[in-house]
Amino acid sequence: MKVLEKTQNDLLPVFENYLEDTGFAKEPQLLYDSYQHIMSIKGKRIRPLLCLIACEAFGGEIEKALPVAAAVEIFHNFTLVHDDIMDNADVRRGMPAVHTKFGVNQAIICGDAMASHSYKQLCHIKDHSNFGDIVCLFTKTASEIMDGQQMDMDFETRNDVGEEEYLTMIKYKTSVLLAAALQLGAQVAGASKEDQQNIYDFGLNLGLAFQIKDDWLDTYGEAAKVGKKIGGDILNNKKTHLLVTAMNSASEDQMAEFKRLFDVTNEDEKIDGVMKLYEDLEINQKTYSKMEQLYADSLNCLDKVSIPNKESLMNLAHSVYHRDF
Ligand code: IPE
Ligand code: IPE
Ligand code: MG
Ligand code: MG
Ligand code: MG
Repeated sequence: MKVLEKTQNDLLPVFENYLEDTGFAKEPQLLYDSYQHIMSIKGKRIRPLLCLIACEAFGGEIEKALPVAAAVEIFHNFTLVHDDIMDNADVRRGMPAVHTKFGVNQAIICGDAMASHSYKQLCHIKDHSNFGDIVCLFTKTASEIMDGQQMDMDFETRNDVGEEEYLTMIKYKTSVLLAAALQLGAQVAGASKEDQQNIYDFGLNLGLAFQIKDDWLDTYGEAAKVGKKIGGDILNNKKTHLLVTAMNSASEDQMAEFKRLFDVTNEDEKIDGVMKLYEDLEINQKTYSKMEQLYADSLNCLDKVSIPNKESLMNLAHSVYHRDF
């Protein structure tokens, strides 16, 4: 953990400095204020760290990866602004979500402006040797995230989602961005195609474990740490790993109880009812063992990457996996 702290302590201030100066227009005022609101309540900054650490691990210069890391983090924050509208989530990072503070219309345009602004960062890449590959990967990823978000919403009204389908959904809505952050860092550093693929696969598996942990925290986390409303996924009938696993192992009676609870409007009754079923079905343990497996898969992929020093990547993976917020 010490190495990670050192890496983060070294890299994060450099990244934050860069991010502050990405030139988001100060006018119109409300566009700027809403952008500032989400960007100044900093998250964990996992994706830019993955990008910068991958670049460094492949012997690249951090400065060259900064515009790409900024593009990734701004795009991620854009998806959160719109995600909170779609998920009826009022709180983000312990603060009012953009739509809570500024209204839904403002949050829509704020997100749109952030998506454009993230692309604008790519114009600041100075070394154009891998520019085409970088733009293609970034764009492919952006479009996959929308597919994942659509699947996530479609699943709310379905009761027959299996684990495979669930994994495809979270691969798109979440994992591809972590994977791309790593590969983009590798591209900036001029890594071989094979290494790029292996580092991408490392991120893909880590991202799946990361999203399952996100699902777990939404039900079992501490509100003060997680910074979101606990039980939000249950209230939205989200097909999380917990719910998919539960529904796929439920008896007929338990399934009937799930279906009844989906229509319950009293929040406490609904959350308590679903959590009781989770307990009866030992969902906590089942979800944890899936996470463990995906985390182990991710480290196997990292093993295949041909760089001598993988310590900072391994440490970052460790802290991403063991996070409690
Ligand atoms: C939240 O991502 C959205 C998901 C894809 C699970 P993070 O947990 O990385 O959010 P921040 O940026 O640290 O707040
Ligand atoms: C968010 O997934 C994925 C994207 C924003 C692309 P979630 O909806 O689970 O993320 P949180 O829990 O709101 O952070
Ligand atoms: Mg969502
Ligand atoms: Mg959400
Ligand atoms: Mg979530």
